[in-house]
Amino acid sequence: MELGLKGKRALVVGASRGLGRGIAEGLAAEGCHVLLAARNVEKLGTIARDIRARCLVEAEAMELDLADPSSVDACCARALALGVDVLVNNSGGPPPSDALGVAADTWRRQFEIMVLGVISLTDRLVPPMRAQKWGRVLTIASSGVIQPIPTLGMSNTLRAGLVAWMKTLAGEVAADGVTVNVLLPGRIATERIAELDAAAAKRLGGDVDEISRQAASNIPMGRYGAVEEFASVAVFLASEKSSYVTGTMVRIDGGLVSSI
Ligand SMILES: NC(=O)c1ccc[n+]([C@@H]2O[C@H](COP(=O)([O-])OP(=O)(O)OC[C@H]3O[C@@H](n4cnc5c(N)ncnc54)[C@H](OP(=O)(O)O)[C@@H]3O)[C@@H](O)[C@H]2O)c1
Repeated sequence: MELGLKGKRALVVGASRGLGRGIAEGLAAEGCHVLLAARNVEKLGTIARDIRARCLVEAEAMELDLADPSSVDACCARALALGVDVLVNNSGGPPPSDALGVAADTWRRQFEIMVLGVISLTDRLVPPMRAQKWGRVLTIASSGVIQPIPTLGMSNTLRAGLVAWMKTLAGEVAADGVTVNVLLPGRIATERIAELDAAAAKRLGGDVDEISRQAASNIPMGRYGAVEEFASVAVFLASEKSSYVTGTMVRIDGGLVSSI
């Protein structure tokens, strides 16, 4: 299927590893130029070189710290100068926490990274998409938005707020050919998930493989998802072929969330 992504340009946040990297590589494989953003610009540089060599598209590394408004400004300026058709919002996950007992400063800091940083970026990059009557905004959230995950209180809460903002935005820009959708990973095998499993093994005093096996047994498909399985849904939603899909959340979770 021709996805209509050739020659378009995407800004992918959190492209230095995991889901963001997988999406950037998936888009580039379809002929989309990519601007890769995250804090670790050295790692991004290596990924960009590899993408340029393999996919014959433009790939540029861009330092971005969502916690720093001046860094967000600089990233927006570069993205606006190049012209961005597809924005993939992503950030690091917050530390585990209960609902109770989180310090106000911790809430504020995580809000600035996960919500305000993403809103600021989107706020600046969507107007040119509207003007050209074509754009795609994708945001990586979590299955915890539908089925809150115990021990991830901050993630459940802040991501739900961001999803509400994205849904509001979707209605505002739909008539201009800009679609706004949210991706909900369940448990996709990235370094972050490996780190979380290792932390759980340490906390519970168990074996990390046993922890992973137990987590996978709670997923109807009986396994973690692969980054490529997640990225292929994102690439479709970024494409021309998804032109009538907006304001929605798509679960990529192997059936993990139990509600319809
Ligand atoms: N994998 C899953 O199954 C799963 C499930 C539910 C939710 N999620 C969420 O989906 C997102 C991506 O997941 P992942 O597994 O790919 O996570 P990951 O491996 O930790 O990747 C996070 C990416 O975000 C970047 N990042 C972190 N803090 C940043 C900041 N302040 N400014 C800019 N970039 C920043 C990181 O790069 P630098 O360190 O170089 O900045 C990295 O590229 C996370 O928020 C995660 O919590 C994932």
